[in-house]
Amino acid sequence: MKVVKSIAAMQRLSGRWRRAGRRIGLVPTMGFLHEGHLSLIRVARRRVGASGQVVVSIYVNPTQFGPAEDWVRYPRDLPRDLKACRAAGVDVVFAPSDAAMYPGKAAGRYSTYVVEEQLSQSMEGRTRPTHFRGVTTVVAKLFHLVQPDVAVFGAKDWQQAAVIRRMVTDLNFPVRMVIAPTVREPDGLAMSSRNKYLDPEQRRQATVLWQALRHARSRVGRTPIPAARLKKEIARLVAAASQAKLDYVEFFDPETLAPVARVSRGTHMALAVWVGKTRLIDNGRL
Ligand code: PAF
Repeated sequence: MKVVKSIAAMQRLSGRWRRAGRRIGLVPTMGFLHEGHLSLIRVARRRVGASGQVVVSIYVNPTQFGPAEDWVRYPRDLPRDLKACRAAGVDVVFAPSDAAMYPGKAAGRYSTYVVEEQLSQSMEGRTRPTHFRGVTTVVAKLFHLVQPDVAVFGAKDWQQAAVIRRMVTDLNFPVRMVIAPTVREPDGLAMSSRNKYLDPEQRRQATVLWQALRHARSRVGRTPIPAARLKKEIARLVAAASQAKLDYVEFFDPETLAPVARVSRGTHMALAVWVGKTRLIDNGRL
């Protein structure tokens, strides 16, 4: 397994693979890898085959964090991640520095961003106004540098996947996007690097997101139910956990992300909940 840190070296490698007709699979991550990431790596390997190249990018992208968010304390452990990637059969880990990814930014000379203007406005985009601009910018850069045939993202970030898919279509990236299912802990909590922030009591209460999804699933039957009513029920359920605070819960069309007034089978639900100082998200089809 190669560890590549420079932009030029990554471009040289991907150029060589393309000329040799090798398939390239990319798994973009911010590191601190868990079983959810490893499942994405397995999907990438299946898609490109044994002769293909699987690249995992590990980069805690500063532009997708707001000024008061957790960029500085976001968990990082490159040696542990490299070990996990090696064991998972990854070919290349691309782990650039901030100076490499955003040249001149520290001196105020970086000024090019990729902005998706529709799907990025609701939910995460409302609470975190500059978040998706950072995500689309860094993913566009990764696509240019790695030139993947296939890029694998997790369904846990459903809105992120929809925004990136729109970018891929609008900007004609020759990349097939694959969205892999959310991997959960035995008690239903979606795996996330941020789960590390939770103390034991918060970790226990964090299952409230999964309980909310299950509650919504249990309420959806033959007759559509008003979204407003279901939102109130979810708010009550979340409020029952003393350290949890609902940021938003939304019911929407899974493709267009357009909110629905009446919830029925096939409607998608997403929610964000603060558990102590940690903001967790989850989503699922009802
Ligand atoms: O989902 C993530 O981990 C990040 O948003 C991504 C896609 C790696 C971009 O930094």
